[in-house]
Amino acid sequence: MKRLLSIAALLLACPFLRAVEVINTDNTTLVLNAVKGKPIAQLYYGSLLINGEAEALWNSGSSAIECYPAHGLKEDREEAISVIFPDGNVTLDLRVESVRRQSWEGGEILEITSRDTYYPFSVISYYKSYRTENTISTWTEIINDGKKSVELCRFDSGCLPFRVNDPWISTFYGKWANDCRLNEEALVHGTKVIRNRDGVRNSQTSHSEAMISLDGRPNENFGPTIGAALCYSGNYELRFNYPCEEYATFHAGICPEDSHYTLSGNEHFTTPELAFSFSKEGLGGVSRNFHRWGRKYKLAHPSVERKILLNSWEGVFRNVNEEGMEQMMNDIAQMGGELFVMDDGWFGDKYPRDTDRSTLGDWMVDRRKLPHGIGRLVEMAGEYGLKFGIWIEPEMVCEKSELYEKHPDWALKAANREPSGSRQMTLDLSNPKVQDFIFDVVDDLMRENPGIDYIKWDANAAIEEHGSPYLKNQSHLYIEYHRGLANVLNRIRAKYPDLTIQACASGGGRANYGILPWFDDFWCSDNIDPIQRLSMQWGESYFYPAIAIGSHVAAAPNRITGRVAPLKFRIDMALSGRFGLEILTKKMTDDEKALCARAIEDYKAIRHIVQFGDLYRLNSPEDGDGVSSLMYCTEDKSEAVFFWWKPVGFRQEILPRVKMNGLDPQANYRISELHRTDAKALKCEGKSFSGRFLMDNGLDIPSAGKNDADLAYGSRVLYLERL
Ligand code: GLA
Repeated sequence: MKRLLSIAALLLACPFLRAVEVINTDNTTLVLNAVKGKPIAQLYYGSLLINGEAEALWNSGSSAIECYPAHGLKEDREEAISVIFPDGNVTLDLRVESVRRQSWEGGEILEITSRDTYYPFSVISYYKSYRTENTISTWTEIINDGKKSVELCRFDSGCLPFRVNDPWISTFYGKWANDCRLNEEALVHGTKVIRNRDGVRNSQTSHSEAMISLDGRPNENFGPTIGAALCYSGNYELRFNYPCEEYATFHAGICPEDSHYTLSGNEHFTTPELAFSFSKEGLGGVSRNFHRWGRKYKLAHPSVERKILLNSWEGVFRNVNEEGMEQMMNDIAQMGGELFVMDDGWFGDKYPRDTDRSTLGDWMVDRRKLPHGIGRLVEMAGEYGLKFGIWIEPEMVCEKSELYEKHPDWALKAANREPSGSRQMTLDLSNPKVQDFIFDVVDDLMRENPGIDYIKWDANAAIEEHGSPYLKNQSHLYIEYHRGLANVLNRIRAKYPDLTIQACASGGGRANYGILPWFDDFWCSDNIDPIQRLSMQWGESYFYPAIAIGSHVAAAPNRITGRVAPLKFRIDMALSGRFGLEILTKKMTDDEKALCARAIEDYKAIRHIVQFGDLYRLNSPEDGDGVSSLMYCTEDKSEAVFFWWKPVGFRQEILPRVKMNGLDPQANYRISELHRTDAKALKCEGKSFSGRFLMDNGLDIPSAGKNDADLAYGSRVLYLERL
C-alpha cells in the first residue's frame, strides 16, 4: 500500500505522464507517448536510440506533440481528424485507451486505440515498422461504434511532428508531358497544402510524396531528412503546418474536399498507409530506403528483372496493322529485345479506334486491322522469340462506343447536367457491374490469348463529372471509385499473378505506392525527350526505384519538344531506368539498329545493377552546371554503373568533375565504357582505381573531345567492376 502511494505521488509530481512506446528499425527510432486517458503524442523520430536513450529523451527537454489531433476542443492548430456527430456536436475528444503490439516478419505493428470520452467512436492508430528498410508506416482505422451515422469531415492517415531548425521541403509538381518536377523551398510559417483532385491520375499535377530536410537546404548526402509517401491511388491532401512554435507538422490523407464520408453505425473506415523514412544521409539516404522498401513490398514481382521491350505507340500511333506489328517484332527481336507491346488502336468493331474520341469500352479486336486477331500476334511474337503485350484503357468509355450505347448509366456523369462532351468519360467503378465488366475485359483477353505476358493499363482522363448514377451518396464517389478499382485489381492479380502490368495514366499519372502493388512499373511520361526526361526521372527517383520507371528511346526530332538529340544520348538516358524502345524501327538505319543492339546487350549485363542496385544521385540536372550524373551500385558494392550526361554544350565550358558515391573505399574497381561511340577510348578505359579515389576525386570525362561529334549531348555509361 505504502509503495502504491509512493508511485502515485511520483506520478503526480511528474511534469509529463509517460507511457513510452518505442518503434525501432535498424537505423531509426520513433517514440510515441501513449498515456491512457491522454491524446496520443510523438516524442521523437530520428536516428536509432539505444541503451535507454528513449527514456532519457524526457531529460533532453523534448516535447511530446500530439500526433493525431482532433477538432474542436483546443486552440487553433492543424487537425488530423474532424467529425460531426448525429446530434450536431463537432468536437472530438480522443484519449488513449489501450496499446497492443504484434510482430510480423519484417518488423512490428503497434496499435494504439483511442476512444472519444463521450460518444461511441474510436480510432486505432497503426504504426508498422519495416526493420531493414528503415521505413515505418502509419494509418488509422476509424470506428463508429454507435448506431447512427457520423460524418467524417477530415480523416488524415497520419501526422508527423518535427522539430524545426530551418526546415526545407522537396515536393513534386507537374502536368501532362512534364511529369514529376522537383520543387525545393524553405518551409515558411503558415500552412502549405498540396492537393490532388483528379479522381484518377493522382500524380499528374503533384505527387503525394515529400522530403523534409530538417536542418537547412536539401542535401543529397548529409543531414537529417524525412521522406514521406502517402500510398493511395485517389485524391489526397498533404499539409505542412509551421506555426510560431518549435514544432511543425506534416499531415497526409485522402483529400476531404468533395469526399465527406458518412460513416454508418458499426462501420470501420481504414485510411491509406502513410510511409515515412528517416536518414542522416540526406535525400539520397531516404531515397535508398524507399527504393529498398518499394522493391520489397510495394511492387508486383519485385525480384523479377523487367524485360526489354518495344512499344508501338510513338512508332505508329493508332495505325496498327498486322504487317506493321510483325515488322516491329522482327526488328526488336534482331536487336535483342524480349517483349513487344502493341499500344492503342487495335480494337473496335462498330466504331474503329482511329481517333481518341471513340471506341473506348469496345475491347474486341478490329478485324480490318488485325484479320487474324490477337492470337496470331501472340503466336508471331513467339516465333520471333519474344513475349507479347497489349494496351488497354479499361476504366474509360467514349460516348461513341457500343458500350456507351448499351450502358449509358455506367459512365460517371452528374444528374440534370449536359454531358461535358469530353473525348472520353470515366466508368463508374463504384458500380459492381462495372467492376465485373472491367475484370472481364482482362479475363476475356487472357482466356482467349493465354500467351499474353504484359498489359499496359492506361487511364487518360480525370473524373470530370462528379456524379455516379449508382451511388446514393455522391460525396462517396471518389473513395468508392478507388475501392472499386482495388476490387478489380485484386481479382485480376488473384487469377493472373504472373502477368506483367504497367500503370500508365496520360504518362506518369499513376506513380504512387498506393497503386503500384498491383503493377510492375509505371510509364514515367508521354514526353520521351531525353533532356526533359533527365529532370522528370530525377524527380521520380526520389521515391521510386529505377525498376519501376518506364524509360524508352524515341525518335528524333522528339514529337513533343521537337528536339533532335543523338541516338546515343537518347539511349544512355533511357538505360538509367526500366529500359525499352518506342520508335518506328523500320525507319532506323542499320547503324542505328546496331547501336541499339549493342546497348541492349549492355543493358542485359547491367540490368541487375540498375533495377536492383542502390541509387546515388551525383549531379543534378537542375543545378545548371552542364552535367547530370547518377550511379547504381549493387548492394555488396561489387559492381556499379555510372551514368554521365551533358545535355547542353558551350565551347570552352568548364565542366564539374563528378565524384562517385556508394563504392567500397577499400576496393579497386576496373572501369569500362559501355557502347562507346567515340573512336578513341577514355583515358580511364580498362584502368582501375580505388573506390576511395573515385569517391573523393572522380574521373575527368571529356566534354567534347576530338572524336565527339556533338558539342552538346555528350553521354557516357561506365561499368565498374570490383577487382
Ligand atoms: C496515353 C499513354 C501513351 C499511349 C496513349 C495511347 O497517352 O500515356 O503512352 O499509350 O495513351 O492513346
